Amino acid sequence: MNKEKVICKCYHVTKGDVAEAVKAGASCYKDVKKATKAGKACGKCKKRVKKLTKKLVKGK
Ligand code: FES
Repeated sequence: MNKEKVICKCYHVTKGDVAEAVKAGASCYKDVKKATKAGKACGKCKKRVKKLTKKLVKGK
């Protein structure tokens, strides 16, 4: 996983940020959204963030 890859352009949230949020206890998209703001603006990244969150939570 490229941690530097921006997954949410509106808030400049990277894949690494999402991974951090999951590490810190986020277990679903809603938690990640709260922690990183990903998806709070245009919402275009929602699907991507959801998918990545699921993957990361599974791999925990
Ligand atoms: S790209 Fe994430 S809210 Fe716009």
